[in-house]
Amino acid sequence: MKIDILTIFPEMFDGFLNTSIIKRAIEKKLVEINIVNFRDFTLDPHGKVDDTPYGGGRGMVLMVQPIYDAVMSLKKDNTKVILLTPDGEPYNQKKAYELKKYEHLIIICGHYEGFDDRIRSITDMEISIGDYVLTGGEIPAMAITDSITRLIPGVIMEESHINDSFNIETNLLDYPTYTKPREFKGMTVPDVLLNGNHKEIDEYRRNMQIEKTKERRPDLLS
Ligand code: ADE
Repeated sequence: MKIDILTIFPEMFDGFLNTSIIKRAIEKKLVEINIVNFRDFTLDPHGKVDDTPYGGGRGMVLMVQPIYDAVMSLKKDNTKVILLTPDGEPYNQKKAYELKKYEHLIIICGHYEGFDDRIRSITDMEISIGDYVLTGGEIPAMAITDSITRLIPGVIMEESHINDSFNIETNLLDYPTYTKPREFKGMTVPDVLLNGNHKEIDEYRRNMQIEKTKERRPDLLS
């Protein structure tokens, strides 16, 4: 899978691409992630990518031309173009599974007060990572890229997906986990996890998932 991320702040991705699981997935060629600075595509002689809004108002608006040309230079027949905006469809694990199926994604990070609405003419979907407003699409782009990459076979142990919160079949939250020591400041590990009986352990974990989901996210059980 290939993901092109269009941004004017490529340096924000340095840590993301060079750390832990994402770094290893790139090295193993399980995913290709390209950071594309759409400022490189502007026809403005001073390198401008934004301007004041028609009709007046605060702030600067990203211009359509640099983003349009950047997308057109990267887009193939099998590409899905995603625009990141608080106005978009709410992102969730189901959407991560859906996006994982595409061979090529172009993710556009908005910035400033917004973007010229004509950018919407070249996008296939709009995504929001939650009902709050960030200064730009870079953090949402990392969140989405991370959530897709970890679903690609070989990136993490397959077993991890089975127990993920929001697992696509169960839609339950994850069960609690523990590691050494057995006791810490009077807090102990549940006995059932120490008895080696895997049937009992599976049953306990499943019950914990159901209880936790009922308590915290009853909306997921409907
Ligand atoms: N850009 C700014 N806020 C955002 C959000 N919540 N989701 C996606 N893109 C955004």
